[in-house]
Amino acid sequence: MATERTFSIIKPDATKRNLTGKINALIEDAGLRIVAQKRIQMTREQAETFYGVHKERPFFGELIDSIISGPVVVQVLEGEGAIAKYRAVMGATNPASADPGTIRKEFAVSIGENSVHGSDAPETAAIEIPQFFSGNEIVG
Ligand code: PPS
Repeated sequence: MATERTFSIIKPDATKRNLTGKINALIEDAGLRIVAQKRIQMTREQAETFYGVHKERPFFGELIDSIISGPVVVQVLEGEGAIAKYRAVMGATNPASADPGTIRKEFAVSIGENSVHGSDAPETAAIEIPQFFSGNEIVG
């Protein structure tokens, strides 16, 4: 399987509860390398661009309010099959359905406060990563 990169967000519900280190430990234990990382306050405009594909969905307003409700840690993760691997480490979108040992089972509060985001496909990662990182901020 090829080495690839995926985009990750540790969301405000998790940063507020001081869970960044515990989430990073699960990421690294899965064999993913954190090749870029920064803590930022997302603006409403950045959030609406980032989640633009979901703008017609009924929960869009809630999704935007939630992601700008506090600091996030944005990351680029690298590894073999990184996109699928990180989705597996994250667990199901709804923490009630997530498998034991996944980030969302261990830490998420609800479907609206589900602690992490990960790109769902290579094309998505290629769009998401440059929204937050320039090339020289990613060090593999
Ligand atoms: S996924 O993981 O992209 O396949 O899930 P999807 O169902 O398409 O959801 C897209 C993002 O919306 C979030 N979401 C919600 N937020 C608030 N309330 C409700 N009901 C809700 N349902 C889904 C979900 O966590 C996804 O966010 P990200 O940040 O991409 O994981």
